[in-house]
Amino acid sequence: MKVTVVGAGAVGASCAEYIAIKNFASEVVLLDIKEGYAEGKAMDLMQCASLNGFDTKITGVTNDYNKTANSNICVITSGIPRKPGMTREELIGINAGIVKTVATNLIEHSPNTILIVVSNPMDTMTYLVHKSTNLPKHRIIGMGGALDSARFKYRLAEALGAPISDVDGMVIGGHSDTGMVPLTSHATRNSVKVSEFLSEERLNQVKEDTKVGGATLTKLLGTSAWYAPGAAVSGLVQAIACDQKKMFPCSTFLEGEYGLNDICIGVPVILGKNGIEDIVNVPISEAEKEHMKASAEGVRKTNGLLEF
Ligand code: LAC
Repeated sequence: MKVTVVGAGAVGASCAEYIAIKNFASEVVLLDIKEGYAEGKAMDLMQCASLNGFDTKITGVTNDYNKTANSNICVITSGIPRKPGMTREELIGINAGIVKTVATNLIEHSPNTILIVVSNPMDTMTYLVHKSTNLPKHRIIGMGGALDSARFKYRLAEALGAPISDVDGMVIGGHSDTGMVPLTSHATRNSVKVSEFLSEERLNQVKEDTKVGGATLTKLLGTSAWYAPGAAVSGLVQAIACDQKKMFPCSTFLEGEYGLNDICIGVPVILGKNGIEDIVNVPISEAEKEHMKASAEGVRKTNGLLEF
């Protein structure tokens, strides 16, 4: 199992680190355009191998796509991250060109790859990859919902005063401050609906805190987060590499599901060795349906800024 991660910045490097620590891939290639940078990160990470007990071989390369050849899974994290006060949508001008070039290079060297898009604005970047390459839709996956769901569970556990292992929940919709749709109607504490424990007001606060999860961190850190994004990507990569048939909300091209067409947006999917193996139609409340509709409108507005 060979995995390429493009972009050796904080998200790309922690993604490579978590993949290695989970010890399911034989090889991770880390690629960056900055001379020597991916090589340095890869060497530093490899020097963790004896300490953290993994055998995954991590190689760093400077823009040499030959070294990525025949990757089973490729992850695109390249582009600029947001600064405090910026929305993910504001990154489109720079990131669209980068993502298109990177995707084309990756597919040229690994025509059978499954692509995971992380660069922001993620739903629009996933749509761009869909429109500008000939990769089938089940092999193009946008990572946002897995991260947003992890942040939702964190906030739920905080509100409940419960350990995170007691909590389950999912966030669908666009990966943006207004677009996320935390499914409070389905969230549970040890199989009991969280609404049994939390007031509507407290649940609304959980929702709002979840939606600005990335922005809150960007304000604190001066740049966007990396540990949870890296961990979320590694979860998707593992589900595919190990054919787990695991359910995650991911951005995928919709053709009628959730009443939406010609858009990439977060919905629950099953991930296995073929990439997206199914889209799961979860019944959602009327309010969540309305929120999903508004979220799709937001994503379409950003898609409208793309130039093909
Ligand atoms: C975040 C970025 C990775 O939400 O989109 O932290």
